[in-house]
Amino acid sequence: MKGIVLAGGTGSRLRPITHTGPKQLVPVANKPVLQYGIEDLRDAGITEIGVVLGEKGRDEIQAFLGDGSEFGVDVTYIVQGEPLGLAHAAGCAREFVGDDDFVMYLGDNILKQGIGELVARYESNDAAAGIALQHVDNPGQFGIADVDESGAVRQLVEKPDDPPSNLALIGIYVFSPKIFDAIADLEPSWRGELEITDAIQALLDDGESIDSHVVEGWWKDTGKPEDILDANRLVLEGQPGATAGTIADGANVIGHVDLHETATIREGATVRGPVSIAADTVIRSNTYVGPYTSIGPNCIVDSTHVENSVVVGESRLTANGRIVDSLIGRGAMVESADDLLPEGRRLVVGENSQLKL
Ligand code: TTP
Repeated sequence: MKGIVLAGGTGSRLRPITHTGPKQLVPVANKPVLQYGIEDLRDAGITEIGVVLGEKGRDEIQAFLGDGSEFGVDVTYIVQGEPLGLAHAAGCAREFVGDDDFVMYLGDNILKQGIGELVARYESNDAAAGIALQHVDNPGQFGIADVDESGAVRQLVEKPDDPPSNLALIGIYVFSPKIFDAIADLEPSWRGELEITDAIQALLDDGESIDSHVVEGWWKDTGKPEDILDANRLVLEGQPGATAGTIADGANVIGHVDLHETATIREGATVRGPVSIAADTVIRSNTYVGPYTSIGPNCIVDSTHVENSVVVGESRLTANGRIVDSLIGRGAMVESADDLLPEGRRLVVGENSQLKL
């Protein structure tokens, strides 16, 4: 069994963060989203992994993953280029996959429980594909599967007005190489993309059996800023890290704080976990870092209150105020204008930024 991880795409819903880098490298609990998928594949025993790259962020992704050995896998890069759809991305991996079965993992997805059960179930039957499903409250927003009691898929419907179930397809699939012929015959959908649900439906229409597996535990597609915050909260809640850095006398640290060995919490600062603080970051006095916050490397946080937020790294947060529910891109500065005249907010804001003042 091989793996392919889709790391192309546009990432338009995550602008402005994705103006300067791929969304698959946005950190969740100080670990790039992409790494979660790579580790899930590895933990399921899949070490031959094809990473599909788009136009954007190719170099960064290759610099991060290298040949994969640091993560215990063997990575082959496959260039898709233009994001012409999930099925198109999969089709680009045909030569890499050859005659093997393979898992396709969307590079912006995070799954609490990994993919071991999905893979084991696929291997124990003779279906042409196995799809991972999860119960959702708003089935009209998803691709939905109609399945029988045994889990066999009867039909797939995209964003149905009248949903046959509340079982949504999440971004993880197991395929036999039969999927490639189905992809080769696809026509673009109304949005101009080759849709993976259409390829699976074509297999069904050809009389192939498609199995499904309902994933327990949470699943998160990190396509939007609020999804990054949700995923960060869920990961921090479940994976309390180790406190290896320096905590000064007179600092107040409560709950689980994953503190990098080169990070520092100074006297007069309060950090209430779960929180993750990366290398070389300093939390100074009069600062409160509240639950569900991840602060990336090389940051200074001073005289600020920050909670339920993700700070990517290389930032100074020194504004005397409260930062909540925020995603702050690399190198962003949030400083005080209190002693400057005329009084007011001073903004240097990039395209597609979102400010709530
Ligand atoms: P999406 O989130 O569906 O697409 P997107 O990245 O274009 O995002 P947006 O809608 O915000 O512009 O993609 C899911 C995953 O699949 C993500 O990791 C990107 C990847 N992908 C490809 O590799 N190739 C593609 O053609 C598409 C559409 C997505």
